[in-house]
Amino acid sequence: MMHKNKITIFFLLMPFLLVGTAIHLGDLIHVSVWNKLPGGNNLSIHCKSKDNDLGLQTVRPNQDFAFHFYTNFLGTTLFYCRFKTKYGEGVYDIYNYKRDVDRCNECTWNVTQYGVFGYSHVSEVDFFWPKRP
Ligand SMILES: *[C@@H]1O[C@H](CO)[C@@H](O)[C@H](O)[C@H]1NC(C)=O
Ligand SMILES: *[C@@H]1O[C@H](CO)[C@@H](O)[C@H](O)[C@H]1NC(C)=O
Repeated sequence: MMHKNKITIFFLLMPFLLVGTAIHLGDLIHVSVWNKLPGGNNLSIHCKSKDNDLGLQTVRPNQDFAFHFYTNFLGTTLFYCRFKTKYGEGVYDIYNYKRDVDRCNECTWNVTQYGVFGYSHVSEVDFFWPKRP
């Protein structure tokens, strides 16, 4: 009898447990992108997601551009940035849930004369500037 009640309570609560999971805000992610360009050069960066435009930013030498957000419960969170430097430019995923969910919650990038380099204790993600013709 006791056992049966417990099972009943479980099934009564189940819809709430499922809804609780669905409205979960996800993980808090911090991204910071450091200007490590030589020669005192500024970094120009423009980051977006489907719903957010973080605007065109100028990052001074040895400064960072940082932002944070919550991942969505669908597992589709994606932020990408357009980088412009005197050494090269490109558009790269800076937080892609599928790639980064187990890689970082504090996702740090260094932008250098060679490209855009992401570090975490798990793995690196490297984007090299395209070769100039
Ligand atoms: C870097 O950006 C700042 C702010 O926009 C600007 O005042 C400065 O002249 C820029 N420096 C260079 C080397 O372009
Ligand atoms: C990225 O920049 C940070 C801050 O200067 C530095 O401590 C770190 O070593 C850099 N990462 C690499 C692998 O160069």
